[in-house]
Amino acid sequence: MNKKKLINMAIKARKNAYVPYSRFHVGAALITKSGKIYTGCNIESASYTPTNCAERTAIFKAVSEGHRDIETIVIIGDSEFTYPCGVCRQVMREFNKNMHVIIAKDENNFKEYTLEELLPNSFGPEDLKNKEERCNEL
Ligand code: THU
Repeated sequence: MNKKKLINMAIKARKNAYVPYSRFHVGAALITKSGKIYTGCNIESASYTPTNCAERTAIFKAVSEGHRDIETIVIIGDSEFTYPCGVCRQVMREFNKNMHVIIAKDENNFKEYTLEELLPNSFGPEDLKNKEERCNEL
């Protein structure tokens, strides 16, 4: 799967965005290390808070189908380059500290980052290791 194909899948997913409140459409497409592809769009709610970003939709679809090994994710929104929100960066961090993140404008114009660049010095699963030791200290 090349980058252009993944970008076009995110563009297609963006068409499904349910955005009656913001009117801001976002699409995402990810590929796992084993080659599985999942897409997502943002889904809003009349009570606003339950809104789910496109990236998280795609990631949750992958994880709920048993695929956590996310290698690359493409994001494309209605602004020139739509960067992932802080919550989505943290969710990406959960599954791959070194995730490859592509912020696309179209299939010929995109910027590439590592998650470490977008979320430096992050908190993650490793910080919660040795649970028993912490319990004993209390
Ligand atoms: N949104 C995303 O889906 N991904 C992002 O990276 C940024 C923001 C959505 C959430 C909401 O539906 C709309 O864009 C406006 O914030």
